Amino acid sequence: MSKRFYITTAIDYVNGQPHLGHAYEKIIADVLTRARRSLGQEVFFLTGLDEHGQKVQQAAQADQKDPQTYCDGLAADWQAFAKKLELTHDDFVRTTQPRHRACVQAVLSRLNDAGHFYKAGYTGFYSAKEETFLTEKDRRPDGTFDPSYGQVVELKEDNYYFKLGAHQQWLIDTIEGNPDFITPSYRRNEVLGFLKNNTLEDLCISRPASRLNWGIPLPFDPDFVTYVWFDALVNYVSIAAAHGDPTIAAAFGDLNFKTQNPPLELWPADIHVIGKDILKFHGVYWPIMLKAMGLPLPKQILVHGWWQKDGAKISKSTGNVVDPMAVIEEWGLDAFRFYVLRELDIGPDGNWTDAGFRARYQAELANGLGNLVNRSLSMLQRYRNGVVPARSNELEADAARAAEETRALLQQSRLQAALQSIWSLVNRANQYVDQTAPFKLAKDPAQAQRLEEVLYNLAEACRVLAVLLWPFLPGTAGKIYAQLGLEGAPDQWGAATWGGLQPGRTIGAPAPLFPRKDV
Ligand code: MSP
Repeated sequence: MSKRFYITTAIDYVNGQPHLGHAYEKIIADVLTRARRSLGQEVFFLTGLDEHGQKVQQAAQADQKDPQTYCDGLAADWQAFAKKLELTHDDFVRTTQPRHRACVQAVLSRLNDAGHFYKAGYTGFYSAKEETFLTEKDRRPDGTFDPSYGQVVELKEDNYYFKLGAHQQWLIDTIEGNPDFITPSYRRNEVLGFLKNNTLEDLCISRPASRLNWGIPLPFDPDFVTYVWFDALVNYVSIAAAHGDPTIAAAFGDLNFKTQNPPLELWPADIHVIGKDILKFHGVYWPIMLKAMGLPLPKQILVHGWWQKDGAKISKSTGNVVDPMAVIEEWGLDAFRFYVLRELDIGPDGNWTDAGFRARYQAELANGLGNLVNRSLSMLQRYRNGVVPARSNELEADAARAAEETRALLQQSRLQAALQSIWSLVNRANQYVDQTAPFKLAKDPAQAQRLEEVLYNLAEACRVLAVLLWPFLPGTAGKIYAQLGLEGAPDQWGAATWGGLQPGRTIGAPAPLFPRKDV
């Protein structure tokens, strides 16, 4: 058994329908997954839903449903959404599943037995919306709390706390010693800055069941349920445990999780893909939880930025939203996948504009890639009845350069740059059409051989592009292969080597990949 490359996303709260931000993150993880599979790695891709906690309980109440019924209904929508995005995940976790609940309780028992928790009283302010305790420090200069906290109430209650302070220096040393652990580096610096300038407060890991019962009961005190973040973070190991991961089985000894066959070696995760707002949970609490569990840390936390629309926060209440489903219906999935990854590098914040979306569709997809493939194959059809001519290597070096550069960028999870590299080949090939003018060559019988050289280079460049594009635009890549008359999917990077198109074969029927739209 060899360890799989293990990629996860944040698990989304099921208190509404998926939006652009959720889609973006899942597409990042899917492209990383497909790219590594294409490059020959065995990958396990996990995504799913965070179903417990106050947010979900309140949403269910507002919908007049019991929380489980509410979650079951929405989970079906979210799973359909994952399908619509053509995510190639291997498992879909729901935190209400018994396999996850059992693991959370095992973790809690173990940490409790090892003395990591204590019970204490608390009096102070609490934001139900953010499920977080607030202190005087959180007040604004005018004495009020930020409206993003919603209603803030004063609370007096007992809870269980996780002693974090003892691990603070260890965490600083760990992050400093592993430059790629939190990526990009400015996010890493944020965490280090926080850790070096603050004393870590202990983490409240329970909620009294009398106030919030939609959660996993503490195994050692049934009057409490588990704090939703402690519950949610454990998903990354609970699902690995459910697949029989040996590292987790060894750490948990006799806990004897039910395993599925055959067992998979998954932990530690290789990449946790998350948004910048939940970095503290993943960069501070999660490593300390793992240390307490005796498990190795994930290799990397890859932090993306947040999307706005038209320069303002995406918000259901103001109606400033992008509905991914509607965009996909109108423009196709690949146009959506392309825009979010080409427009925004993984790290900074981005801004969706409909005009920007259309401009990229028109320039890069319809006029760039689409036009290249369509005119290359149409000319081959028209001038040579679709029969592939003898091999010619004029664009070989350009294709090899693009493939090598793209491969290196994919391995560094630099998806925007990888798309730029792929488009260097698209642009080069379009320029080649203009320079060689095959439509003129076709009129001169003396240029028959030159025409064939040009046609081979174009068709072969299209084929290589299909392989490079596969992780990003799987549907389009598949269509290019089909139009070239090739069987199977362009899902193996090795096929990007020049010369794969066999002379004498007949290609299929060309059809526009990205129909031009009048806008
Ligand atoms: N349930 C927690 C995560 C638990 S992970 C163990 C949560 N859920 S969420 O639904 O609020 O957010 C899920 C992911 O979507 C987060 O990584 C978050 O950053 C991302 N996004 C939510 N809105 C976003 C944008 N507007 N733009 C980009 N990503 C955003 O947090």
